[in-house]
Order: sequence, then C-alpha cells, then structure tokens
Amino acid sequence: MNVIFKRRSVRNYLPDAIEKDKIEKILRAAMQAPSARNQRPWRFLVIQDRQELDRLSEVATNMKMLKEAQAAIFTFFEKDNLTAPLFVQQDLSVATMNILLEASELGIGNCWLGLYPNLERTSHVNKALGTPENLEVFSLISLGYPKDPDAFHYVDRFEPEKVYYEKF
Ligand SMILES: Cc1cc2nc3c(=O)[nH]c(=O)nc-3n(C[C@H](O)[C@H](O)[C@H](O)COP(=O)(O)O)c2cc1C
Repeated sequence: MNVIFKRRSVRNYLPDAIEKDKIEKILRAAMQAPSARNQRPWRFLVIQDRQELDRLSEVATNMKMLKEAQAAIFTFFEKDNLTAPLFVQQDLSVATMNILLEASELGIGNCWLGLYPNLERTSHVNKALGTPENLEVFSLISLGYPKDPDAFHYVDRFEPEKVYYEKF
C-alpha cells in the first residue's frame, strides 16, 4: 500500500531516459486492472522519441510538460464490439491509475493529463497521433525521473467529514 500514499503528480523531469524494461513493467501493471466483464478495452501508445515528444507538447495546453518528459503513454479505448460499453471510461481510469502507481513504485515521476471527455482536446490529439477509427484517446501519462528528490512525499488527504457511516 505504500505506493498509494507516496504517489504524487510529478511535472518536472531529469533528462535521463526511461529503461524499456520499466516501460514494460508499467504496461503490465496497466493491463492488470479490473474491467467490466473483463472486456479489457484498452490500447496504449508509448512515445519516447525526443522529436515526437516535442511535437506533441504543442498539441494541447495541458501537454506542455512533454517538452521535458522522457516518455508519454497515451491510453485509448476500443469503440466497437464491447460487452460493457457503458463502463469503458471506468476501465480506462483504473488502467491509468495502475500506470501511475507502478511508475511511482519504480521511482519514475508521472502525471495524469486528462484528455477524454474533453472533446476539443481529444480531437486535436487524435489528429496529431493519427488514431485509428476504432479507437478513442482517453488519457495521457507523462513520465520522467523527477527533478525534485522529494517528489514522492506523503500528503494527508483524509477528510473524515466526507464519510457517512450507516446513514447520511
Ligand atoms: C482525470 C484527471 C485529469 C488530470 N489532468 C491534469 C492535467 O491536465 N494537467 C495536470 O498538470 N495535472 C492533471 N491531473 C493531476 C491532478 O492535478 C492531481 O492529481 C491533483 O492536483 C492532486 O495532486 P497529486 O496527484 O499530487 O496527489 C489530472 C488528474 C486526473 C485524475
């Protein structure tokens, strides 16, 4: 459970490359997520090429940090032939969360950049990536070793007044 408490959004990165085996560990964690009816509707696009990261940093206002990032993982969901289409966004959310947790566990700074359902952002991103017709982009995770040595630090977020026991 420690990683849940030390995970932070990290937005400033060192220029050190992220090792391929660590990217695979992160993707394995993503695909370990639960999904409605086990439909596993996810797809992932990994970008580590410097020029491509620089180009993509201009695509949407919240993607500027790709300029410093050493990797980007775009998540997508399949649009057709789903057994539980209503739950596809929840499936992608938990997969995205697993990416954040595994990256944090590996000491890799990470930040969830929201794309879907902001359709202005998703249309720009789908165009820039040439997303196939059967997929829709969902989220973007920027990755890089943190500049701040204290990037992963605990912040107490427990708010007991938001919890009701037995009745409201
Ligand atoms: C759905 C979603 C979308 C987010 N989009 C952005 C974003 O576009 N840019 C950004 O810098 N952070 C984004 N974040 C990160 C949040 O700002 C961050 O999680 C929040 O401020 C709490 O800080 P922490 O992650 O360090 O606990 C997003 C987080 C979520 C869950």
